[in-house]
Amino acid sequence: MRVGVLTGGGDCPGLNAVIRAVVRKGEEIYGHTIVGFRHGWRGVLEDETVELDRGSTRGLLPRGGTILGTSRTNPSKVENGIEKVRETLQEERIDALIAIGGDDTLGVALQLTRAGSPAIGVPKTIDNDLSATDFTFGFNTAVQVATDAIDRLHTTAESHDRVMIVEVMGRHAGWIAMYAGMAGGADVILIPEKPFDIDEVCETIERRHKHGASFSIVVVAEGAVPKEGSMVTQSGELDAFGHVRLGGISNEVQRAIEDRTGFESRVTILGHVLRGGTPTAFDRVLATRLGVEAIDAAHEGDFGKMVALRGAGIERVPLEDAVSEPKTVGEDLYDVAAVFFG
Ligand code: F6P
Repeated sequence: MRVGVLTGGGDCPGLNAVIRAVVRKGEEIYGHTIVGFRHGWRGVLEDETVELDRGSTRGLLPRGGTILGTSRTNPSKVENGIEKVRETLQEERIDALIAIGGDDTLGVALQLTRAGSPAIGVPKTIDNDLSATDFTFGFNTAVQVATDAIDRLHTTAESHDRVMIVEVMGRHAGWIAMYAGMAGGADVILIPEKPFDIDEVCETIERRHKHGASFSIVVVAEGAVPKEGSMVTQSGELDAFGHVRLGGISNEVQRAIEDRTGFESRVTILGHVLRGGTPTAFDRVLATRLGVEAIDAAHEGDFGKMVALRGAGIERVPLEDAVSEPKTVGEDLYDVAAVFFG
């Protein structure tokens, strides 16, 4: 077989571990040829390929990012884009295509499946907002990076008697904020799923300081919104999948806290730091397991599926189950975290 592989959407630690697993088992055990497409779906539209073998994946396991490059190119936004992708796959004699990505990338894989192309999805995103899989690789690393940052901010907040507001990525889901906020002992956590009342936020901080605290940590998801307001975005522009560029809500929160409480406050926006660097051990193992399952599915001709973490096991689920609805933070987890607010 000739098996194509691509990485699409936002990069994250663990992508190279998936590539390494697909190549290692695909070439060494199944004897297949692995063809990498550069820069996500753009590389398929433009037929930009690189043959991958054991030599080209040596040392990849701990390496962040993706050696194939990625993009947010959406073939559906290109005239006859899906057909052009299918033509490239035929010209390159691709017998199976493994698409590693989030809901946008896997949404294209689903369209290809419905058009009759042999596609398999591997879930990827630091946001952890993909349905049908318990966790996505990239998320654990992002949470650890954010938690390390929050730990560091505790000491400077305490030294200056300040309120430190930390903004994390996650698009329209609050998973990173929730997990890093809980792990970092945040005093308030704001997530998109629970629109916030800024007066209540300030009352929580004031109550905490009345009980002897001299500093507070507030973790804000970039997609968090005030109850009556609209989302703060960096710019009105949309990407090829219609996503607005987020970021900056924490500055609004900081101004409100300082104005209302009088407590000196500062903002740290972690942004793309959460997408960089080496994957944690958990993400290396998860990415490896998903990559092996994906090449197994390709070898067996089990197309139209996404490989997923379900409990402690790796399973194959229909692609449509993964991209139908985003997975967002539920009341149960939020209620546990809220025990420690203030
Ligand atoms: O989907 C992953 C993600 O990091 C989101 O958390 C974030 O909003 C977005 O990508 C940023 O996109 P870009 O890297 O294209 O600016």
